[in-house]
Amino acid sequence: MRIGLIGYGGVGKALIKLITEKSPALKAQGVNLEVIYIMGSKKGLYNPQGINCAQLLAASKDGQSITIEDTDENREITPEFMLQNKDIDLLVELTSTNKETGEPARSYILKALENKIHVVTGNKGPIVHSYRELAQAAKENGVCLGIGCTCGGALPSVNGGTIEMAGSEVYSIEGVLNGTTNYILKEMEDTGCTYGTALEKAKACGIAEANPSFDVDGWDTAFKLLILTNVVMKQDKKLSDIQIEGITGLTPENIQTARAEGKRYKLIGRTMREGETLQMVVRPEKLDAEHLLYHVDGKNKAVRYESDTLGELTLIGGASGTTAAAASILRDIISICSR
Ligand code: HSE
Repeated sequence: MRIGLIGYGGVGKALIKLITEKSPALKAQGVNLEVIYIMGSKKGLYNPQGINCAQLLAASKDGQSITIEDTDENREITPEFMLQNKDIDLLVELTSTNKETGEPARSYILKALENKIHVVTGNKGPIVHSYRELAQAAKENGVCLGIGCTCGGALPSVNGGTIEMAGSEVYSIEGVLNGTTNYILKEMEDTGCTYGTALEKAKACGIAEANPSFDVDGWDTAFKLLILTNVVMKQDKKLSDIQIEGITGLTPENIQTARAEGKRYKLIGRTMREGETLQMVVRPEKLDAEHLLYHVDGKNKAVRYESDTLGELTLIGGASGTTAAAASILRDIISICSR
């Protein structure tokens, strides 16, 4: 499987590291991955014989970060060049989220699918804005669109809602869908610190979005809820259909009062039926210990589905992090290779 990667930030770098480390085990399973393009925001690498990822990693200055500039293989490579060249089987799209339009990722993904190239993305923007269009393009061209990373990374919320609930009608979705806010609320609960201090710790762990307002103002939870609602419940909802409130209004006193009552605040995303309509809401809620989502700790997340014939399914785990997000991209790649 010849792979082109657009987006060489934290998750892109972690993916290259994972592919390199796991390559022998993957080969033994019959999964041969060859990365031939890597494109960062300024430069790109192209080697039709396969980029030497181990060398790229070794060129890393501090053993953690990998910069494209560290190697000799630099060329003026752009996503447009790669998509015209049509010499990849699978595009990994990891540019940052544009919540207003989903571009330019939407155009890259669409072009790849039209060229009969599989796509795996961790970018919520194009899926929030254009899931139907992109899924249709994948179907028409006989290729796959992997989006597991967009809804909680390592938490298998998309596979859980589609594969495991197949044939049932899912009528409600509820979840703790954002690891950063869950971590912040736990820090505030355990240490009595302010929201600002806890946010700085979340940033230091590398789990907060590049724009942390996406996390704390509830946008990231709303993106994931919208994607799950459209994919699992087969809806065509928009961000404007969701009532969104983040966690920035919660004070240390609110959190400690809840604690004294044996309760915890969680940032909940929920889609549920009310009569003939669907209500979609993101807001902090005070849960007691009897609620399953009360027990979702730290950077972990959770999703709970209710259905007509398969009953309830709750998945808890999938702690946020760059390696976990990269691993969820690899999970989708392996699943495509296995079809
Ligand atoms: N910032 C997100 C989270 C990670 O904390 O869950 C990507 O969705």
